[in-house]
Amino acid sequence: MARIITVAQQKGGTGKTTLVAHLAAALAAAAAGGRRVAVLDTDPQHSLARWHALRAARGAGPPALIFADPAGWRLGPAIDKLRREADVVLIDSPPQIDTDARLAVRVADLVLIPVQPSPPDLWAAEGTLALAAAERRPARLVLNRAPAAGRLRDWVEAEIATRAWPRLAAALGNRIGFASAFADGLGITEAAPRSTAAAELRALLTEIEELIA
Ligand SMILES: Nc1ncnc2c1ncn2[C@@H]1O[C@H](COP(=O)(O)OP(=O)(O)OP(=O)(O)O)[C@@H](O)[C@H]1O
Ligand SMILES: [Mg+2]
Repeated sequence: MARIITVAQQKGGTGKTTLVAHLAAALAAAAAGGRRVAVLDTDPQHSLARWHALRAARGAGPPALIFADPAGWRLGPAIDKLRREADVVLIDSPPQIDTDARLAVRVADLVLIPVQPSPPDLWAAEGTLALAAAERRPARLVLNRAPAAGRLRDWVEAEIATRAWPRLAAALGNRIGFASAFADGLGITEAAPRSTAAAELRALLTEIEELIA
């Protein structure tokens, strides 16, 4: 039975799809055990689907991922199928808590909530944390596009600590490499394995692996 990681956050543009794509590619790498990784796009914008199409068009290059983009009543059966077929399922969700997003959270072994160091992102995370708590699913905030240091980083760290919200210690910086690898249908660990961005992604993955072990 696959472990399921759902990336959710009702605010748009916080890095949900980016996180799913780069984590999926890193998890599927031979070095990570060559696991069967499935990505499930539940967002009508379909940006993960487009990333996956670019990836599939590369042919026998990067490890293949299982892909599905069901909606509505098809989502539940699709998750059940992928749970049997894959080792890890990553679910991308739309920037709102709709019925599909609720189901995606309900089935998750881990819910990741990307937040950029800005008040609207942080405030929006509360709704997703509450949903995960209501469904009794473990959830963690993931700092995205975060400066390594400085006032904004201090501010977001303090806000999270004050609220005692669960978070991963590793964070992703604001790095063009994430977008450019995405444009090629790749993950950062494939496109630029020696980059700082790839090191950040691997650190994040190490923490995530412990949580879903
Ligand atoms: N760490 C990062 N460094 C640089 N750019 C990033 C990073 N994370 C995300 N981005 C960029 O920010 C934009 C939004 O990211 P993404 O599409 O992953 O967010 P999202 O939460 O999935 O958005 P939506 O809510 O619309 O689905 C994209 O242009 C993406 O390339
Ligand atoms: Mg998205």
